[in-house]
Amino acid sequence: MNKLRIGICGWGNVATGLFKTLQTNADQIKKRCNLEIEIIAIGARRDNPKCDPGNAIIERDIFKIMDHDIDVLVELIGGVDVARDLILKALNNKKNVVTANKAVIFNHGDELFSVANKNGVKLLYESSVCAGTPIIKLLNQELAASKISKISGMLNGTSNYILSNMEEGMEFEPTLKLAQEKGYAEPDPSFDIEGTDAAHKIGILSSLAFGSSLPPKDFYIEGINGIHKSDFEYAHEMGFTIKHLAVAKLTNNSIDLRAHPALVKLDSYLANLKGVRNGIEVETDLLGTLHIAGSGAGQEATASGVISDLIYLSDSKIKDVNNINESIELVKFIDLNFQYYFYIEASDVSDAMPSISSIFTNKGVSIESISQKENLNNDLVPIIIITDLLKEKDHHELVNNLLELDSVNTVRSIRIEAQ
Ligand code: HSE
Repeated sequence: MNKLRIGICGWGNVATGLFKTLQTNADQIKKRCNLEIEIIAIGARRDNPKCDPGNAIIERDIFKIMDHDIDVLVELIGGVDVARDLILKALNNKKNVVTANKAVIFNHGDELFSVANKNGVKLLYESSVCAGTPIIKLLNQELAASKISKISGMLNGTSNYILSNMEEGMEFEPTLKLAQEKGYAEPDPSFDIEGTDAAHKIGILSSLAFGSSLPPKDFYIEGINGIHKSDFEYAHEMGFTIKHLAVAKLTNNSIDLRAHPALVKLDSYLANLKGVRNGIEVETDLLGTLHIAGSGAGQEATASGVISDLIYLSDSKIKDVNNINESIELVKFIDLNFQYYFYIEASDVSDAMPSISSIFTNKGVSIESISQKENLNNDLVPIIIITDLLKEKDHHELVNNLLELDSVNTVRSIRIEAQ
């Protein structure tokens, strides 16, 4: 079993989320990666009543974390200046660093990466953009052969959460409060609602995709704080909804970089990502447009990205998932329940309807909706039924019973996959 010894700096929402996730998912990490991640020390200026750090050594001076025998320093203090000093010290002490801090990468990324290179260590930052939704390694590795022409999407979970709730009729302020309670918002939520957080993230992605510098020069940033609930109604009437979009686009050797609210088509991919979800579209020459979506904020989502960096650093090989696990069986299909769509063609509807209904009733299946459509050319009438859950083992017999009715000509059925 490989071992990775880590020191964590910071003991707030993100750090305690990492601590808990490393405990809850330790077996999964051992099983898939043959890796044990051991927390040696925690740099915490104060205790956190929400989390007991167990046997880890606590350092009140976070810079002392470096003095311990650790392979990686995980920087989760947030902010810019102290975080920069901490990361620089760790890199100069030949420690690898993992950070979730987009502000420090945005403002000092170029300097920090160059110091990491000089010292032959790594600075990884998967969870700085879209929490654990994998975009950094995707751009760095999987898409390394592709030319990227545009990256756009919702990069701030709090903004998307607030806008999605406003779309459903909630007011701005209570929704922001909810986002804070759920641990999505920054300690200073103006970073979220004024667009700064999304701007940091798109700046980082732009540097990866197009090689723009960090920090980038000034670019347009606007937040969601000017959006009103009624804007959604007007947008809907025209087939649009409102999202906070961050865009980095290559145009004639320059980069169109911006972060602001925008109307997007209601039937578009991004429009349908609600709540704390982040969604990114990457336009590439080799793969066309790639879509990536996942939770963009919150303890677990962020922990997922930090741990993926730790696994990467440990050089542990993720085990292929083709190992045989005899204790895991497949669920028998006939034991499943589905809601169903039924298409039934009947010749005499007034005669057929009661018989059709009673066939469903006899099987104990409720009908959620039933509607009669316009007559077909041959005078047969389509009837569309949506059922409640139906036992798969009853399905075949139910279809046969329907087909046995004199007035029924055709029966088709399609399962409805629960979302
Ligand atoms: N406050 C950030 C957000 C957290 O809402 O997206 C993750 O970076």
